[in-house]
Amino acid sequence: MKMKEKEVKVSPLKNFVAGGVGGACLLLAGHPLDTIKVRLQTQPKPSGTQCLVYTGAYDCFRKTVSKEGVLGLYKGMGAPLMGVAPMMAISFFGFALGKQLQQTDPGKPLTSTQLFVSGCLAGIFTTVIVAPGERIKCLLQVQSSRGGTKYSGPLDCALQLYKEQGIRSVYKGTLLTLIRDVPSTGLYFLAYENLKINLTPEGQSVSQLSTPRILLAGGVAGILNWTIALPPDVLKSNFQTAADRKYSGLADVLKTLLREEGPKALYKGSNAVFLRAFPANAACFLGFEVALKGLNILAPSW
Ligand SMILES: *[C@@H]1O[C@H](CO)[C@@H](O)[C@H](O)[C@H]1NC(C)=O
Repeated sequence: MKMKEKEVKVSPLKNFVAGGVGGACLLLAGHPLDTIKVRLQTQPKPSGTQCLVYTGAYDCFRKTVSKEGVLGLYKGMGAPLMGVAPMMAISFFGFALGKQLQQTDPGKPLTSTQLFVSGCLAGIFTTVIVAPGERIKCLLQVQSSRGGTKYSGPLDCALQLYKEQGIRSVYKGTLLTLIRDVPSTGLYFLAYENLKINLTPEGQSVSQLSTPRILLAGGVAGILNWTIALPPDVLKSNFQTAADRKYSGLADVLKTLLREEGPKALYKGSNAVFLRAFPANAACFLGFEVALKGLNILAPSW
Protein backbone atom coordinates (compact mmCIF):
# COMPACT_ATOMS: atom_id res chain seq x y z
CA MET A 1 0.00 0.00 0.00
CA LYS A 2 1.24 3.47 -0.86
CA MET A 3 0.98 6.11 1.84
CA LYS A 4 -2.22 8.12 1.59
CA GLU A 5 -1.47 11.41 -0.14
CA LYS A 6 -2.09 14.71 1.57
CA GLU A 7 -5.14 16.37 0.13
CA VAL A 8 -3.85 18.63 -2.61
CA LYS A 9 -5.92 20.65 -5.02
CA VAL A 10 -4.48 21.06 -8.49
CA SER A 11 -3.64 24.68 -9.26
CA PRO A 12 -3.45 25.42 -13.01
CA LEU A 13 -1.84 28.80 -12.30
CA LYS A 14 1.03 27.32 -10.28
CA ASN A 15 1.44 24.63 -12.90
CA PHE A 16 1.68 27.33 -15.56
CA VAL A 17 4.55 29.08 -13.78
CA ALA A 18 6.31 25.84 -12.84
CA GLY A 19 5.82 24.60 -16.42
CA GLY A 20 7.65 27.68 -17.70
CA VAL A 21 10.55 26.86 -15.39
CA GLY A 22 10.43 23.27 -16.66
CA GLY A 23 10.56 24.51 -20.26
CA ALA A 24 13.63 26.61 -19.51
CA CYS A 25 15.31 23.57 -17.90
CA LEU A 26 14.37 21.45 -20.91
CA LEU A 27 16.27 23.82 -23.11
CA LEU A 28 19.23 24.21 -20.74
CA ALA A 29 19.72 20.43 -20.82
CA GLY A 30 18.79 19.92 -24.46
CA HIS A 31 20.34 22.87 -26.28
CA PRO A 32 24.00 21.77 -26.01
CA LEU A 33 23.11 18.52 -27.81
CA ASP A 34 21.34 20.53 -30.46
CA THR A 35 24.37 22.77 -30.96
CA ILE A 36 26.58 19.71 -31.36
CA LYS A 37 24.15 18.14 -33.81
CA VAL A 38 24.02 21.26 -35.97
CA ARG A 39 27.80 21.71 -35.90
CA LEU A 40 28.32 18.11 -36.97
CA GLN A 41 25.69 18.43 -39.67
CA THR A 42 27.15 21.59 -41.12
CA GLN A 43 30.89 21.05 -40.82
CA PRO A 44 32.63 21.37 -44.19
CA LYS A 45 33.52 18.17 -46.04
CA PRO A 46 37.28 17.55 -45.87
CA SER A 47 39.08 17.96 -49.20
CA GLY A 48 42.53 16.58 -50.05
CA THR A 49 44.81 16.48 -47.01
CA GLN A 50 42.41 18.34 -44.72
CA CYS A 51 40.88 16.54 -41.76
CA LEU A 52 37.35 16.78 -40.45
CA VAL A 53 37.00 19.55 -37.88
CA TYR A 54 35.11 17.24 -35.56
CA THR A 55 35.45 13.46 -35.61
CA GLY A 56 32.25 12.90 -33.67
CA ALA A 57 29.84 14.16 -31.04
CA TYR A 58 32.23 13.90 -28.11
CA ASP A 59 35.06 15.50 -30.06
CA CYS A 60 32.78 18.38 -31.04
CA PHE A 61 31.72 18.82 -27.42
CA ARG A 62 35.34 18.86 -26.20
CA LYS A 63 36.57 21.29 -28.85
CA THR A 64 33.64 23.65 -28.42
CA VAL A 65 34.09 23.83 -24.65
CA SER A 66 37.87 24.27 -24.81
CA LYS A 67 37.69 27.02 -27.48
CA GLU A 68 34.53 28.87 -26.49
CA GLY A 69 33.83 27.78 -22.95
CA VAL A 70 30.61 26.19 -21.79
CA LEU A 71 28.66 29.16 -23.15
CA GLY A 72 29.67 28.10 -26.67
CA LEU A 73 27.21 25.22 -26.28
CA TYR A 74 24.43 27.68 -25.54
CA LYS A 75 24.77 29.86 -28.62
CA GLY A 76 21.46 30.72 -30.25
CA MET A 77 19.36 29.61 -27.31
CA GLY A 78 17.42 32.88 -27.05
CA ALA A 79 15.00 32.21 -29.90
CA PRO A 80 13.94 28.68 -28.86
CA LEU A 81 13.69 29.85 -25.24
CA MET A 82 11.03 32.38 -26.26
CA GLY A 83 9.03 29.50 -27.72
CA VAL A 84 9.73 26.55 -25.43
CA ALA A 85 9.18 28.18 -22.03
CA PRO A 86 5.71 29.53 -22.89
CA MET A 87 4.85 26.29 -24.66
CA MET A 88 5.67 24.18 -21.61
CA ALA A 89 3.88 26.67 -19.36
CA ILE A 90 0.72 26.25 -21.46
CA SER A 91 1.23 22.51 -21.60
CA PHE A 92 1.44 22.05 -17.83
CA PHE A 93 -1.44 24.51 -17.43
CA GLY A 94 -3.61 22.44 -19.77
CA PHE A 95 -2.68 19.22 -17.99
CA ALA A 96 -3.50 20.72 -14.57
CA LEU A 97 -6.76 22.15 -15.86
CA GLY A 98 -7.72 18.75 -17.23
CA LYS A 99 -6.95 17.17 -13.88
CA GLN A 100 -8.85 19.87 -12.00
CA LEU A 101 -11.93 19.48 -14.17
CA GLN A 102 -12.00 15.72 -13.61
CA GLN A 103 -11.04 15.72 -9.95
CA THR A 104 -14.09 15.08 -7.81
CA ASP A 105 -12.28 14.46 -4.53
CA PRO A 106 -8.77 15.85 -3.87
CA GLY A 107 -7.84 12.76 -1.84
CA LYS A 108 -8.62 10.36 -4.68
CA PRO A 109 -6.01 9.77 -7.41
CA LEU A 110 -7.10 10.16 -11.02
CA THR A 111 -7.43 7.08 -13.22
CA SER A 112 -5.08 6.44 -16.13
CA THR A 113 -7.81 7.39 -18.57
CA GLN A 114 -8.36 10.68 -16.78
CA LEU A 115 -4.63 11.41 -16.81
CA PHE A 116 -4.41 10.59 -20.51
CA VAL A 117 -7.38 12.85 -21.27
CA SER A 118 -5.77 15.67 -19.24
CA GLY A 119 -2.56 15.22 -21.23
CA CYS A 120 -4.53 15.35 -24.49
CA LEU A 121 -6.03 18.64 -23.34
CA ALA A 122 -2.48 19.92 -22.80
CA GLY A 123 -1.72 18.92 -26.41
CA ILE A 124 -4.76 20.85 -27.66
CA PHE A 125 -3.72 23.93 -25.69
CA THR A 126 -0.16 23.96 -26.98
CA THR A 127 -1.38 23.62 -30.57
CA VAL A 128 -2.66 27.19 -30.29
CA ILE A 129 0.93 28.40 -30.33
CA VAL A 130 2.73 25.43 -31.87
CA ALA A 131 0.67 25.32 -35.09
CA PRO A 132 1.37 28.92 -36.18
CA GLY A 133 4.96 28.47 -35.02
CA GLU A 134 5.42 25.49 -37.34
CA ARG A 135 3.66 27.20 -40.25
CA ILE A 136 5.91 30.26 -39.96
CA LYS A 137 9.06 28.19 -39.48
CA CYS A 138 8.36 26.18 -42.64
CA LEU A 139 7.62 29.27 -44.73
CA LEU A 140 10.84 30.93 -43.60
CA GLN A 141 12.83 27.75 -44.24
CA VAL A 142 11.49 27.40 -47.77
CA GLN A 143 11.94 31.09 -48.51
CA SER A 144 15.69 31.11 -47.86
CA SER A 145 16.27 28.19 -50.22
CA ARG A 146 14.41 30.02 -52.99
CA GLY A 147 16.43 33.18 -52.44
CA GLY A 148 13.46 35.53 -52.15
CA THR A 149 12.91 37.71 -49.11
CA LYS A 150 9.17 38.09 -48.84
CA TYR A 151 9.32 37.87 -45.06
CA SER A 152 11.93 39.66 -42.99
CA GLY A 153 11.39 37.46 -39.91
CA PRO A 154 8.86 35.46 -37.90
CA LEU A 155 6.81 38.41 -36.71
CA ASP A 156 6.71 39.97 -40.17
CA CYS A 157 5.66 36.61 -41.59
CA ALA A 158 2.81 36.24 -39.07
CA LEU A 159 1.56 39.77 -39.77
CA GLN A 160 1.69 39.35 -43.55
CA LEU A 161 -0.17 36.03 -43.42
CA TYR A 162 -2.80 37.61 -41.22
CA LYS A 163 -3.19 40.72 -43.40
CA GLU A 164 -3.33 38.80 -46.66
CA GLN A 165 -5.55 35.87 -45.80
CA GLY A 166 -6.67 36.22 -42.21
CA ILE A 167 -6.25 34.00 -39.19
CA ARG A 168 -7.04 30.81 -41.14
CA SER A 169 -3.82 31.20 -43.04
CA VAL A 170 -1.80 31.64 -39.83
CA TYR A 171 -3.32 28.40 -38.54
CA LYS A 172 -2.88 26.33 -41.71
CA GLY A 173 -1.60 22.87 -40.78
CA THR A 174 -3.37 22.84 -37.41
CA LEU A 175 -4.97 19.45 -37.97
CA LEU A 176 -1.57 17.89 -38.62
CA THR A 177 -0.17 19.47 -35.48
CA LEU A 178 -3.12 18.14 -33.46
CA ILE A 179 -2.63 14.63 -34.85
CA ARG A 180 1.03 14.80 -33.87
CA ASP A 181 0.73 16.44 -30.47
CA VAL A 182 -2.55 15.41 -28.83
CA PRO A 183 -2.03 11.65 -28.35
CA SER A 184 1.70 12.05 -27.72
CA THR A 185 1.18 14.68 -25.04
CA GLY A 186 -1.50 12.48 -23.48
CA LEU A 187 0.95 9.61 -23.30
CA TYR A 188 3.74 11.91 -22.11
CA PHE A 189 1.88 13.04 -19.00
CA LEU A 190 0.25 9.66 -18.37
CA ALA A 191 3.66 7.97 -18.47
CA TYR A 192 5.20 10.53 -16.16
CA GLU A 193 2.46 10.33 -13.52
CA ASN A 194 2.29 6.53 -13.60
CA LEU A 195 6.07 6.14 -13.46
CA LYS A 196 6.22 8.45 -10.48
CA ILE A 197 3.68 6.28 -8.64
CA ASN A 198 5.43 3.05 -9.62
CA LEU A 199 8.85 4.37 -8.61
CA THR A 200 7.64 5.46 -5.17
CA PRO A 201 8.87 2.99 -2.54
CA GLU A 202 6.31 1.27 -0.30
CA GLY A 203 5.09 3.44 2.52
CA GLN A 204 6.35 6.69 1.01
CA SER A 205 4.57 9.59 -0.61
CA VAL A 206 4.83 10.37 -4.33
CA SER A 207 5.52 14.00 -3.42
CA GLN A 208 8.80 12.96 -1.76
CA LEU A 209 10.15 11.08 -4.76
CA SER A 210 13.96 11.33 -5.00
CA THR A 211 15.68 13.38 -7.69
CA PRO A 212 17.11 10.41 -9.67
CA ARG A 213 13.66 8.84 -9.84
CA ILE A 214 12.07 12.08 -11.04
CA LEU A 215 14.78 12.29 -13.71
CA LEU A 216 14.11 8.70 -14.76
CA ALA A 217 10.34 9.22 -14.98
CA GLY A 218 10.77 12.45 -16.95
CA GLY A 219 13.35 10.97 -19.33
CA VAL A 220 11.22 7.93 -20.14
CA ALA A 221 8.14 10.12 -20.65
CA GLY A 222 10.13 12.21 -23.13
CA ILE A 223 11.21 9.13 -25.10
CA LEU A 224 7.62 7.84 -25.24
CA ASN A 225 6.39 11.22 -26.46
CA TRP A 226 8.74 11.15 -29.39
CA THR A 227 8.15 7.46 -30.12
CA ILE A 228 4.57 8.16 -31.01
CA ALA A 229 5.00 11.75 -32.23
CA LEU A 230 7.79 11.06 -34.71
CA PRO A 231 5.83 9.19 -37.44
CA PRO A 232 3.17 11.94 -37.73
CA ASP A 233 5.99 14.49 -37.56
CA VAL A 234 7.72 12.90 -40.55
CA LEU A 235 4.40 12.89 -42.44
CA LYS A 236 3.78 16.50 -41.51
CA SER A 237 7.19 17.72 -42.64
CA ASN A 238 6.86 15.89 -45.93
CA PHE A 239 3.35 17.19 -46.49
CA GLN A 240 4.14 20.79 -45.59
CA THR A 241 7.27 21.08 -47.67
CA ALA A 242 6.08 19.11 -50.71
CA ALA A 243 5.36 20.89 -53.97
CA ASP A 244 1.69 21.76 -54.52
CA ARG A 245 -0.44 18.74 -55.50
CA LYS A 246 2.37 16.23 -55.01
CA TYR A 247 0.20 14.44 -52.48
CA SER A 248 -3.57 14.17 -52.47
CA GLY A 249 -3.68 14.02 -48.68
CA LEU A 250 -2.03 12.70 -45.54
CA ALA A 251 -2.89 9.09 -46.31
CA ASP A 252 -1.18 9.54 -49.63
CA VAL A 253 2.00 10.82 -47.93
CA LEU A 254 1.97 7.75 -45.68
CA LYS A 255 1.44 5.33 -48.59
CA THR A 256 4.15 6.96 -50.68
CA LEU A 257 6.71 6.94 -47.86
CA LEU A 258 5.99 3.30 -47.01
CA ARG A 259 6.19 2.26 -50.65
CA GLU A 260 9.39 4.16 -51.40
CA GLU A 261 11.36 3.73 -48.18
CA GLY A 262 9.58 1.18 -45.97
CA PRO A 263 8.50 1.58 -42.34
CA LYS A 264 11.88 2.89 -41.20
CA ALA A 265 11.11 6.09 -43.11
CA LEU A 266 8.78 7.01 -40.25
CA TYR A 267 11.66 7.08 -37.78
CA LYS A 268 14.16 9.00 -39.85
CA GLY A 269 16.70 10.90 -37.79
CA SER A 270 15.42 9.35 -34.59
CA ASN A 271 18.80 8.65 -32.92
CA ALA A 272 19.59 12.30 -32.38
CA VAL A 273 16.05 12.98 -31.27
CA PHE A 274 16.01 10.20 -28.67
CA LEU A 275 19.47 11.08 -27.41
CA ARG A 276 18.26 14.57 -26.67
CA ALA A 277 14.77 13.65 -25.41
CA PHE A 278 15.92 11.79 -22.31
CA PRO A 279 18.08 14.45 -20.60
CA ALA A 280 15.92 17.33 -21.82
CA ASN A 281 12.69 15.92 -20.43
CA ALA A 282 14.36 14.62 -17.27
CA ALA A 283 15.52 18.19 -16.59
CA CYS A 284 12.13 19.59 -17.55
CA PHE A 285 10.21 17.56 -14.99
CA LEU A 286 12.82 18.11 -12.31
CA GLY A 287 12.66 21.87 -12.86
CA PHE A 288 8.89 21.67 -12.84
CA GLU A 289 8.72 19.68 -9.56
CA VAL A 290 11.22 21.94 -7.78
CA ALA A 291 9.43 25.09 -8.95
CA LEU A 292 6.04 23.69 -7.93
CA LYS A 293 7.32 22.83 -4.46
CA GLY A 294 8.76 26.33 -4.13
CA LEU A 295 5.45 27.88 -5.21
CA ASN A 296 3.53 25.73 -2.74
CA ILE A 297 5.72 27.15 0.02
CA LEU A 298 5.74 30.76 -1.22
CA ALA A 299 2.10 31.03 -2.26
CA PRO A 300 0.11 28.24 -0.61
CA SER A 301 -3.23 29.91 -1.33
CA TRP A 302 -2.89 30.43 -5.10
C1 LIG B 1 6.94 15.71 -28.01
O1 LIG B 1 7.20 15.39 -29.33
C2 LIG B 1 6.90 16.38 -30.29
C3 LIG B 1 7.25 15.71 -31.60
O2 LIG B 1 7.35 16.18 -32.66
C4 LIG B 1 7.68 17.65 -30.01
O3 LIG B 1 7.34 18.66 -30.92
C5 LIG B 1 7.44 18.09 -28.60
O4 LIG B 1 8.26 19.19 -28.29
C6 LIG B 1 7.74 16.95 -27.64
N1 LIG B 1 7.41 17.38 -26.31
C7 LIG B 1 8.31 17.40 -25.36
C8 LIG B 1 7.85 17.94 -24.05
O5 LIG B 1 9.44 17.04 -25.51
